[in-house]
Amino acid sequence: MEQARKILVTAALPYANGLAHMGHLVEYIQTDIWVRFQRLIGNDCVFVCASDAHGTPIMIRARNDDIDPEELISYYHDKYQEHFAAFHICFDNFHTTHSQENRDLVEKIYASLKSAGHLDTRTIRQAFDEKEAMFLPDRFVRGTCPRCGAADQYGDSCESCGATYSPSELIEPTSILSGTRPVERESDHLFFRLGDFEEDLRQWVSSGALQESVRKKLAEWFDVGLQDWDISRDAPYFGFEIPDMPGKYFYVWLDAPVGYMASLLDLSRRRQDLNFEEYWDPDSDAEVYHFIGKDIVYFHSLFWPAVLRAAGFRVPTGVFAHGFLTVNGEKMSKSRGTFITAATYLDHLNPECLRYYYAAKLGSGVEDMDLNLDDFIQKVNSDLVGKLVNIASRCAGFIARLSDGRLAEALPDPELHASFENGATAVAAAYESRRYSRAMREIMAMADLANQFIDRHKPWVMAKQDDQKDLVQGVCTQGINAFRSLMIMLKPVLPGMAAAAEQFLGEEELVWQDIGRPLLGTRIRKFEPLMKRIDPKAVAAMVEASRESLGASPTGASATDPLGGETAKEITIDDFKRIDLRVAQIISAELVEGADKLLRLELDLGDSRRQVLAGIRSAYHPDALTDRLVVVVANLEARKMRFGTSQGMVLAAGPGGEEIFLLSPDTGAKPGMQVT
Ligand code: 2FM
Ligand code: ZN
Repeated sequence: MEQARKILVTAALPYANGLAHMGHLVEYIQTDIWVRFQRLIGNDCVFVCASDAHGTPIMIRARNDDIDPEELISYYHDKYQEHFAAFHICFDNFHTTHSQENRDLVEKIYASLKSAGHLDTRTIRQAFDEKEAMFLPDRFVRGTCPRCGAADQYGDSCESCGATYSPSELIEPTSILSGTRPVERESDHLFFRLGDFEEDLRQWVSSGALQESVRKKLAEWFDVGLQDWDISRDAPYFGFEIPDMPGKYFYVWLDAPVGYMASLLDLSRRRQDLNFEEYWDPDSDAEVYHFIGKDIVYFHSLFWPAVLRAAGFRVPTGVFAHGFLTVNGEKMSKSRGTFITAATYLDHLNPECLRYYYAAKLGSGVEDMDLNLDDFIQKVNSDLVGKLVNIASRCAGFIARLSDGRLAEALPDPELHASFENGATAVAAAYESRRYSRAMREIMAMADLANQFIDRHKPWVMAKQDDQKDLVQGVCTQGINAFRSLMIMLKPVLPGMAAAAEQFLGEEELVWQDIGRPLLGTRIRKFEPLMKRIDPKAVAAMVEASRESLGASPTGASATDPLGGETAKEITIDDFKRIDLRVAQIISAELVEGADKLLRLELDLGDSRRQVLAGIRSAYHPDALTDRLVVVVANLEARKMRFGTSQGMVLAAGPGGEEIFLLSPDTGAKPGMQVT
């Protein structure tokens, strides 16, 4: 037997300020299938991940929610864990980049880069928001494109003409935080000299660590020349402070990939059999693979291997990038109900259906993938229910009824079984090279063969004659074994269903090699349907429920979400009608202890009362608000905050601070009136 490979696998670390959605799941399901396959064939495969907890967007989001960043990241960390587990993602560890392990490793790496002379300090000019007293990332500045004149563009690129530029080139630049015009300010930053590693990187690239299309992209980047990388950020910043540079922090993208190592380190402290150094030593014979989205290739194929090399660690064996997800052929959209979170999906559908559908569509390349909801229903119902489960359900009843649940001692058609064993070799090769769609096709072709075998022998006809009982038992034993082989091959994709099949077959954990050892002469258990057909109504309800979250933005998913966020700015009149705007009267207003931005408002909506936590404290004294009429979004999903639940939102205009202006209807409007 071949020696088991020692493999470490990671999936990209999700930002801890949003909920997992269908786009994220492409990656976690893709990676999970590969990990489960490796374990099934007997390799020693460790799978780690973490939440990506640092950076300006997380700091600002926490500030807007009036909570500590720690509380925000811990909330989303737990949500990720819960939803990934429900989708059967089998992490050995899901850690966080905001951890002592990560801080220690980042500091160690920093010390190595510094002592080896790979860091330079340079003064740069950057957009600064004087009102908020902070430097602004490019994406926090908006203005008119200097090339084409399109209004409201980001500080780094124009969505209309594709031009790239710096925020200072924008016409009428505005800080998205305060609405004021940023100024330019100087600051000292720390740069990593990526160019020092060009030779190492070229060598690494030629070792076959990357997909062909990614390799080509890298060749372009080499041609343009490798730029130094700014790895520091100014306070205020949520991250790790640089030890010998007070007020400066490591850029989130420096500490994020180190989070892969930190997660393993944390795990190794709990698992005696696991030695952290064995994986990261330059001479390690372990393999390390990173699964990522195509938008973060630069970080993983240039910065990360260079940082590893510079710090004296091994470089990854492979980096596997995948494409983006569209739903029904378009970007996920809240107004169309196709921005589907993992949680909403789970309310309506079986997670394994999605795992199968993604597997049936995934190849090894970086092409985008479409989740077409009609095709999803059709494919799952026809392949899993119509073909796969059908094999077992056609045979199990006869075995139970005519043979007291006992399988025959031999297979009547050993060649058919042997052809499945051969087929399994091709399926294994397809899994290994991440050509899951090919693997699923091969498996379903075998399922067709199994069904044809049953059709040919017609056990339901033979079962009517007493003297053909043994023949029926043989045919059905063959059918059950075909089902069993297919289920083993599908175990990486359908772990829950495979566990139920093991129960039915009366077997322990099946492994790949069991395909070559047919199940004979034993008793099987009562057959329970292993998968139900997807009801199109459930899919429609899921889309409806996703549409309902319009405006609520509980996910915090942003337009920059690399795995498929929404950028649509237009809504239809029907979308607008879904927002229930009402006149409300403020019965009482009070300060919220511990929250510097919030006021607790008690509102009268005519037929009901409710509490709203409004971020208007900087502009209003509570006493000035009693009896005032306001406009409230009445059907906004209640939101749990640290200081209580907010049941709606009052509308206000203005950039913030003292400039917040509550919207009020004219005198005469009554609480509860609809605003149209
Ligand atoms: O792009 C992203 O969503 C990042 N949070 C991925 C980080 S992966 C790794 F480098 F940490
Ligand atoms: Zn433009």
